[in-house]
Amino acid sequence: MITERYLGGNLAVWTVGRGTPILFVHGFPFDHIMWVPAARSLARCCQSILPDLRGFGASNLVFRDPDEDFDEDDIDIYDAPPTTMGVFADDLASLLDELDIPQVIVCGLSMGGYIAMQFAKKHPRRLKGLILCDTKTEADTPKAAAGRRHLAETVLSEGIEDLSDGASGFLSPVTVDDTPDILEAVQTMMNSQNPAGVAAAALGMAERGDTTAVLQRLEVPVLVVVGQDDRLTPPESMKAMAAKAQRSSFAVIEEGGHLAPMERPMAFEKIVRDWLAKEF
Ligand code: MLT
Repeated sequence: MITERYLGGNLAVWTVGRGTPILFVHGFPFDHIMWVPAARSLARCCQSILPDLRGFGASNLVFRDPDEDFDEDDIDIYDAPPTTMGVFADDLASLLDELDIPQVIVCGLSMGGYIAMQFAKKHPRRLKGLILCDTKTEADTPKAAAGRRHLAETVLSEGIEDLSDGASGFLSPVTVDDTPDILEAVQTMMNSQNPAGVAAAALGMAERGDTTAVLQRLEVPVLVVVGQDDRLTPPESMKAMAAKAQRSSFAVIEEGGHLAPMERPMAFEKIVRDWLAKEF
């Protein structure tokens, strides 16, 4: 895998493989690592592009101008504004400009799916196809949005460590029992996030709108993938979501949870390859 930095050195991006470009957008509170097993599996047919979103992994939350002198003390990251799904989507479009990739398949999981929908709304001509994993198009309920604001306050005041106590909830019980190293990898990934980046994204998710109408209008092929044991965005709701797109395919990954592509990368690879062969 090759890592490079884009957008004035602010965004860390990994690329692997050759072929159809797929931009993989990670979920919350994760980073590009969740896509590495799937990207490796797809390396013979696809050029996978795996950014760390702004404020996650090795990417900056507050983008710095490389031409200006920068003093860490000048930025109070705790005052950073919410990172909206639109800001994330615009970062991805700018990244594609730098990579000189005019059109791409965007694959987003959960929060990555919210961002992929914003990308489809704001940058429709750049979208060749969409893969939506373990996500939804509805906005938060007022109660869910309040929960996000509470989470943002908590991680800023108490740190990130407690978040990973809930890591097993993202996985299928089969994964937790049979492959504890995957659980450990998810915990490590969660624990390594910047609290300010996590808080900013939580606030951004709280204020996101409903993108169902965007999905309904899309003319490009849409693949909807869900883990059989996903308790956050279960198969029934994902199937109903897929039915709203004009040109959709739907697939369930057995023994996969909310992070099914990370848990079952070979099953995910087969689903994506079959879809690519059918649609492109
Ligand atoms: C994710 O995996 O990205 C989260 O479950 C998204 C969310 O909190 O809505």
